[in-house]
Amino acid sequence: ETDVTILAIESSCDETSVAVVKNGNTVLSNVVASQIKSHMRFGGVVPEVASRHHVEQITQIVEAALHEAQVTFDAIDAVAVTHGPGLVGSLLIGVSAAKALAFAHQKPLIPVNHMAGHIYANQLVTPMRYPLLSLVVSGGHTELVYMEKDGSFDIIGETRDDAAGEAYDKIGRILGLPYPGGKKMDEMAHEGKETMHFPRAMIKEDNYDFSFSGLKSSVINTVHNARQKGDDINPYDLAASFQASVVEVLVHKTLRAAKEKNIKQLLLAGGVAANRGLREALSAKMAQELPEVEVVIPPLSLCGDNAAMIGAAAYTEYRQKHFAGYDLNAHPGLVL
Ligand code: KG4
Ligand code: ZN
Repeated sequence: ETDVTILAIESSCDETSVAVVKNGNTVLSNVVASQIKSHMRFGGVVPEVASRHHVEQITQIVEAALHEAQVTFDAIDAVAVTHGPGLVGSLLIGVSAAKALAFAHQKPLIPVNHMAGHIYANQLVTPMRYPLLSLVVSGGHTELVYMEKDGSFDIIGETRDDAAGEAYDKIGRILGLPYPGGKKMDEMAHEGKETMHFPRAMIKEDNYDFSFSGLKSSVINTVHNARQKGDDINPYDLAASFQASVVEVLVHKTLRAAKEKNIKQLLLAGGVAANRGLREALSAKMAQELPEVEVVIPPLSLCGDNAAMIGAAAYTEYRQKHFAGYDLNAHPGLVL
């Protein structure tokens, strides 16, 4: 088979990223420009600010990605882009840039689902072997996705309310941490102890769904009550107690699904896949209870939003000739 080199664009939220990926598994370049500093003072991503940054950045980042990969457009076989889910204004910048490049250079245009991208980040680590199960945990999603074969997605469980990353960020905000608080909370959790017991929502229920809003409220109430009484609350212990609950529920439900499905691999995916507590607990439990299943966890650089994962997912679409026309639109609520 001949090599397939894809230029991929990701702009669904607050990272502008362009990558060049060969054969869905080899990263030639992966340039990521984060806007976090611009959103920090607002305590969250401001959609209008995000779109403006994407517009300002995108052309230079395309150039940088080609330069770093040491290729010109002659070597590119297709242009891939995230068309959803995400912020509509942000998505539109990537989609428009991808269309312009595909048209100018007469290359096929490949739309990619952002969540599929997170899952296929694992293909940049090791070949994906089916059937597999993926726990996808990000700022907007918490899903258990069963894949019988390449390109087929079955969401067997998901959060009924908040996403795991969202819960991290909201509690981080209560503790006065800069946005997004997830990473810092994880670090703090490792310096604290589980001195408070928070609920493990839906853990006993016979399904693969999650709920994190009750946990979030419980943690927030604990903080408010302590503040009202003038008590000191140890933020490290609070982070450790919160993280213990999130990780236990995620690992428990994932193991239940992994045992019931006859899988070859278990993949971790999404921004929260960077969580050290989750990485360690999931690997340990799987090794203990399902040692025959290979556990794949992306390196930290491929957990958060990046275009290399979009290039990896696009390879499957390329082989199936799932190309789009120049009428491609952004789909903020796109599902797998
Ligand atoms: O996938 P991602 O980069 O963007 C979305 O598609 O949502 O995920 C971002 C989320 C944020 O909520 C962030 O706080 C969280 O991932 N996150 C973490 C950690 N690193 C990033 N949450 C917990 N522990 C971490 N180490
Ligand atoms: Zn993401």
